[in-house]
Amino acid sequence: MDPATITPSHTTHMEQEGRKVLLESGTLFEDWLKQSIDWSKWPDHLAEAVRYGLLGGGKRLRPVLVLQCCRASGGRDDVALTAGGALELVHCFSLIHDDLPSLDNDELRRGQPTLHVHAGEPMAILAGDLMLAMAFGLLAQAPCDAAVRATLVDELATGTSDMVAGQVYDTLGGLPATLPPVEQVKLVHRKKTGALIRAACRMGGHCAGADDDTIHALTTYGEAMGLMFQIVDDLLDVTQSTDHVGKATGKDADSGKRTYPGVLGIEACQQEVERLRAEAVQALQPLKGATEPLAALAEIMAIRTN
Ligand code: IPE
Ligand code: IPE
Ligand code: MG
Ligand code: MG
Ligand code: MG
Repeated sequence: MDPATITPSHTTHMEQEGRKVLLESGTLFEDWLKQSIDWSKWPDHLAEAVRYGLLGGGKRLRPVLVLQCCRASGGRDDVALTAGGALELVHCFSLIHDDLPSLDNDELRRGQPTLHVHAGEPMAILAGDLMLAMAFGLLAQAPCDAAVRATLVDELATGTSDMVAGQVYDTLGGLPATLPPVEQVKLVHRKKTGALIRAACRMGGHCAGADDDTIHALTTYGEAMGLMFQIVDDLLDVTQSTDHVGKATGKDADSGKRTYPGVLGIEACQQEVERLRAEAVQALQPLKGATEPLAALAEIMAIRTN
């Protein structure tokens, strides 16, 4: 489907398509991660902690974006599986550390006790450390030529360091005081969450050896998706129950977090989500490969409730 033709009358089809893409591609990664990691290299309790933080639950949005951006750019699945697997390791490490008592102090993640509750805080810190190293170790073995591999490493390093900077802004402050409140929260969200989603889309393009115009289009799509994703996450914190989302809700405001609903109110956030969804879909127009899965992912991420 030409992204420009997406109208509300297509919503049901696109929703179904989005769920299907997430489920099918997400399962591919779940299986790939289980099979491609040599768990015997680490002490049993460390391997168990990493498996707990990595497998079982999770939407797998970031690796699915790597795969679908690679396919939309005409690339091969094997490179995208490695790149997406590496990125998911970084994402899961970021969640484990995000939940620690010294950061968000959360006890529930994906409907289960957080890793520090399950295995203790020292293990949660160390398992996260290992997952970051594992991610770059996996990428070093990506089945592609050396120049592409180096670009993938560079993208993952940029996304990861921006995510960490965003977590610092979110947790410790330090934002430029001259920025208006909405620009401050936008900067936090672009960094802490947008950076890895942007990296997912760019890495997918690089897996396919995409040209600059394609990478530019994927970057615009990824930036819109990344900001939209965290605005929806903030909305879910104020609109959904803990049981439904599988993590604590109703606590961002109490924790003094800068959030989109806190700055703009719920209605303006919903309009911003719709604007970003349309921007993401529009950005797909120059791509030559199959873009319907990416458009469907934008649709489903705009209306998700968990
Ligand atoms: C949660 O990310 C953390 C944010 C960046 C908001 P996800 O909602 O993608 O978490 P999982 O992987 O599906 O559990
Ligand atoms: C998480 O943001 C961002 C990262 C993990 C990098 P949140 O703190 O809002 O995510 P949740 O709500 O705990 O999943
Ligand atoms: Mg946080
Ligand atoms: Mg959190
Ligand atoms: Mg949140």
